[in-house]
Amino acid sequence: MRINSLQLFQFRNYEHLDLLLDSDIVVLYGSNGAGKTNILESIYVGTIGKSHRTSDISDMLLFNANEAGIVMNFEKKETPQKVNIKLFRQGPKDIRLNDTKLSQKELIGTLNTVIFCPEDLQLIKGSPSGRRRFLDMEISQTSATYYHQLLQYNRLLQQRNTLLKEYRGKQHIPLAEWDIQIADIASFIVKKRLESLKKINLLIDLMNRKLTGGLENLTIGYEQPYGEDGDMVYTKEAFYDLLQQHLTQDRHRMTTSVGPHRDDLRFFSDSIDLKKYGSQGQQRTAVLSLKLSELEFIKSEVGEYPVLLLDDVLSELDESRRTNLLQFIHKRIQTVITTTDIHDFKNLPGVQLIHCKEGQIHYGKP
Ligand SMILES: Nc1ncnc2c1ncn2[C@@H]1O[C@H](COP(=O)(O)OP(=O)(O)OP(=O)(O)O)[C@@H](O)[C@H]1O
Ligand SMILES: [Mg+2]
Repeated sequence: MRINSLQLFQFRNYEHLDLLLDSDIVVLYGSNGAGKTNILESIYVGTIGKSHRTSDISDMLLFNANEAGIVMNFEKKETPQKVNIKLFRQGPKDIRLNDTKLSQKELIGTLNTVIFCPEDLQLIKGSPSGRRRFLDMEISQTSATYYHQLLQYNRLLQQRNTLLKEYRGKQHIPLAEWDIQIADIASFIVKKRLESLKKINLLIDLMNRKLTGGLENLTIGYEQPYGEDGDMVYTKEAFYDLLQQHLTQDRHRMTTSVGPHRDDLRFFSDSIDLKKYGSQGQQRTAVLSLKLSELEFIKSEVGEYPVLLLDDVLSELDESRRTNLLQFIHKRIQTVITTTDIHDFKNLPGVQLIHCKEGQIHYGKP
């Protein structure tokens, strides 16, 4: 997969932007606040339909503008395609692929990207929701059905929780209909997550060895806080039974306590829990391996590498990991990198340098 051009209109600090990407490695450099991450964000929005850093569309519109636009020309399996997204301060966004209108759901998976930003370094230490989102987005990019079911699950869950609130203190609560459906989708989601994790585990270990040259064994475990004796819950019957067993508690708390929305991932290096005992460096390497495994996972599912977006993360890695990473992506994966320091890229062959400054871009070295 490859992005050939990007045009922005009133997106963040870009009144107008016309960017030609003519290399495998594109480096956006410039000082803090220049608008480098804004460009990566726009590419991400062009592939997923929403931002990785805000859920509020109006944040992305140029101050005082009422609409913004993103147009991207890209190739997938060597077929040229064009995505055109309009964002409005009021009203729904307008997404078009090759001039045909699409929903956001339908856009996902059209052009695959993997984004790696400083916040991702929190993935291991941070909250379970970040890890769930990571896994869900990775699977969704390769399976539209999964994304669809996930949305449906969240909708049903919300309805169930509303009922728990509405029927507070009442004796009978009509949940049977919901619980049957929720258990059914919960089973689908967990099965798909476990199946994908199996593949990711093979890949992440491989990537980790490549990166560190070491023999540490990196694995990801799946956890269910409600599971008993470490047995995984994944059938619809088991989920239905669990929902009934926790009903008194759920009614009391007015929220649903079992299901994939509670599950979590855990990272182990040679059976050491990295969240609890891992050093800063070990956690960082694990996240990097995870991101690289995501590239391979998408390649194995869709037959082509996604585009990689690296937001300011190279400076966070030590020399050898940075070299290993650049070697890995070289001539294989189109990568857009943001940095404040072009020192590492100045003399690398085949790199396109782009200077960002105050909502404008200039090609080449300073
Ligand atoms: N909606 C908006 N309209 C206009 N300008 C905006 C908007 N949102 C953010 N900006 C501006 O964009 C700039 C930040 O852009 P961005 O996050 O891309 O910077 P950056 O080059 O990645 O900086 P850093 O190196 O610090 O990460 C800020 O100057 C901010 O004021
Ligand atoms: Mg930035």
